Amino acid sequence: MIRKAVIPAAGLGTRFLPATKSMPKEMLPIIDKPIIQFVVEEAITSGIEDIIIITGRGKRAIEDYFDTSPELETHLLQNEKYELLREVKDLSSLADIHYIRQKEPRGLGDAVLKAEKHVGDEPFAVLLGDDIIKAEIPCIKQLTNLFAKYNRTIIAVEEVSKEKISDYGIIKGKEIGESTYLVEDIIEKPSLEEAPSSMGTVGRYVLTPEIFDCIKETPPGKGDEIQLTDAIRMLIEEAGVYGYAFDGKRYDAGDKAGYVKAIIDFALERADLKDDVRRYLEGLV
Ligand code: G1P
Repeated sequence: MIRKAVIPAAGLGTRFLPATKSMPKEMLPIIDKPIIQFVVEEAITSGIEDIIIITGRGKRAIEDYFDTSPELETHLLQNEKYELLREVKDLSSLADIHYIRQKEPRGLGDAVLKAEKHVGDEPFAVLLGDDIIKAEIPCIKQLTNLFAKYNRTIIAVEEVSKEKISDYGIIKGKEIGESTYLVEDIIEKPSLEEAPSSMGTVGRYVLTPEIFDCIKETPPGKGDEIQLTDAIRMLIEEAGVYGYAFDGKRYDAGDKAGYVKAIIDFALERADLKDDVRRYLEGLV
């Protein structure tokens, strides 16, 4: 049973500057819902009970977002906006959310290591905020289901285009079952020539607690940061790692075009917006 999830949200968000100069990138909205809420909801609907968000300087808005807001609630009540009031109240009772600060952005591996004390000696999920995944069975649930079978680290993978290979952790994997790979190697953001395949890791992992010791032994890698991918590489020999080509559609909301695509697709699914937006898009093409 995977009960805990770590959501690293300490990155500087340089790809979305200047918007992220004074606002966390995780709070960028897909219409009216911040990206981080999609991720928190995915964790909760996958059965996670305890969420640890790794924050950093300038990330207070995330804590405020999942906290109660008495003034706003009173205002909505007085103005009889009951539906909005319910939504706002629900937010503060979504799950047990804890916050740990990463003092300096030293990389994804270092961010995950910050959760060691809270996670303890049990397997846990990691969900990265840049990826929004729409799926019938939530992506992290698909991974925890597979974990129940293998009891080993499981990482979500997806075929990525040639141009994007150097943006991802890329695995070398042996297909051992439907959509399931035994990971033989993993390289963080390789060049096209170095890449052992085109299977990229997306931001969903179920990790066994040995990862913490591996991270401690991991020297700075790509971008002079402690990379989670490099620590997972150590786990391959020690404990075994599996890749899973999940079912679902992923939006790279950390990329500007991916962010726009997510907004369009989500708008086209909403009863209150779809007709208007569809008409507008049809008029454009
Ligand atoms: C991170 C990881 C990378 C992974 C990617 C998925 O990179 O380091 O291995 O493939 O997330 O989104 P980032 O996008 O944070 O640079």
